[in-house]
Amino acid sequence: MSEAPVLTPVLTDIWDAERSWKLATYEARGGYAALDIAFAMAPDDVVAAVKDSGLRGRGGAGFPTGMKWSFIPQDPATEAGAKPKYLVVNADESEPGTCKDTPLMMGNPHVLVEGVILSSYAIRAHKAFIYVRGEILHVIRRVQAAVAEAYAAGHLGTNIHGSGYDLDIVVHAGSGAYICGEETALLEGLEGRRGQPRLRPPFPAVAGLYASPTVINNVESIASVPAIVRHGAAWFASMGTEKSKGHGIFSLSGHVERPGQYEAPLGVTLRQLLDLAGGVRRGHELKFWTPGGSSTPLLTAEHLDVPLDFEGVGAVGSMLGTRALQIFDETVCVVRAVLRWTEFYKHESCGKCTPCREGTWWLVQALTRLERGQGTEADLDQLLDQCDNILGRSFCALGDGATSPVSSSIQHFREEYLAHLAHGGCPFDPRRSTAWAGQEVSA
Ligand SMILES: Cc1cc2nc3c(=O)[nH]c(=O)nc-3n(C[C@H](O)[C@H](O)[C@H](O)COP(=O)(O)O)c2cc1C
Ligand code: SF4
Repeated sequence: MSEAPVLTPVLTDIWDAERSWKLATYEARGGYAALDIAFAMAPDDVVAAVKDSGLRGRGGAGFPTGMKWSFIPQDPATEAGAKPKYLVVNADESEPGTCKDTPLMMGNPHVLVEGVILSSYAIRAHKAFIYVRGEILHVIRRVQAAVAEAYAAGHLGTNIHGSGYDLDIVVHAGSGAYICGEETALLEGLEGRRGQPRLRPPFPAVAGLYASPTVINNVESIASVPAIVRHGAAWFASMGTEKSKGHGIFSLSGHVERPGQYEAPLGVTLRQLLDLAGGVRRGHELKFWTPGGSSTPLLTAEHLDVPLDFEGVGAVGSMLGTRALQIFDETVCVVRAVLRWTEFYKHESCGKCTPCREGTWWLVQALTRLERGQGTEADLDQLLDQCDNILGRSFCALGDGATSPVSSSIQHFREEYLAHLAHGGCPFDPRRSTAWAGQEVSA
């Protein structure tokens, strides 16, 4: 067994408290104290503190948060600088495997509300939106209740804490599409239109919501701000690795003894997290895993000691993404798993661009045939060719992400694809492969 890391419960620290989601519980632990610290600072100094902390976006791409805020035009003499500014929190969380923002908003919605106030103050916004995935009604209700409590306590509304600063928060229920998590599709949805990505430039920092300067950040990014303001940039930067600072929530799911949320410094390894989580389910061994949801290339048992930070995971050909660690043991057919994910991408493709709309359909056709043991080895190369025609040619990252499980599974498990062909079906499921052998797939 490797040495277990020290967990760093910051966002998760009160989840086990009685009624952890209530204002009184949060305030008893120092909640909303960061507001007075920030209000004593100039907004630009709050931006500088977040920059200095090294916080990078927790929604997947890892863009530096403070730098994103500094792109908001603030000169009132310019057209963009004179417009109202908006903060939008991305709480759509629809990536297969990703499950950190939902428990965060259930366990401690006030840390998000406090983060929204601090971040809005920093970018000089007076209106903020929390865009919550529409299907998770319980979360919407919990965040709405927290916002109402914050208003009643004077943490929101006009002249907050006597500072002269005003802020209103709108909790918006999304309409249930994965693409609405893409930041510009989200803005379309918020404005009442069908969720499809926008052409960039202009970037949201200049012309976002209602064509005004807008910052869009993930729930966990914004919820990380109160502790940075309270404890300082150096405190946050003391955790993590050289270029990936701070703490993050790692979600372990699938074939693991104790699935759940483990908050640890960036750079922790899967081996260390598995030690904390009781290991892969008893009697089984790790076969493959995703470091950050289904759109991040698969890794294998070879990668147990890869530091889970942006650079470490990138160096082995994958992406840190949302730290959604889905664990699959040797009983799982990788071809079947990849087919299921690809069906998801085909279903969720918004249809705006041809490579993704048509390409994801073709990927499903080819994978279905291969999973049934039909076709030849040449179909694997055709599958890779299809990925090549989607990756980098799609209008947004949904298309790119759809290719990750396909190409990485062929890279690591080519033999398993070939075994399907040799077996005339899935070698993991004799019943299904017999039943399906000989059936043709429409093409
Ligand atoms: C198809 C798709 C879905 C996405 N879903 C989410 C999501 O649910 N939550 C999220 O924060 N970011 C999501 N993103 C990333 C956002 O576009 C954006 O990068 C992020 O909200 C920025 O926040 P951050 O800088 O704090 O990470 C998605 C991107 C794509 C392409
Ligand atoms: S890549 Fe897919 S989801 Fe993105 S715009 Fe094109 S069709 Fe829509």
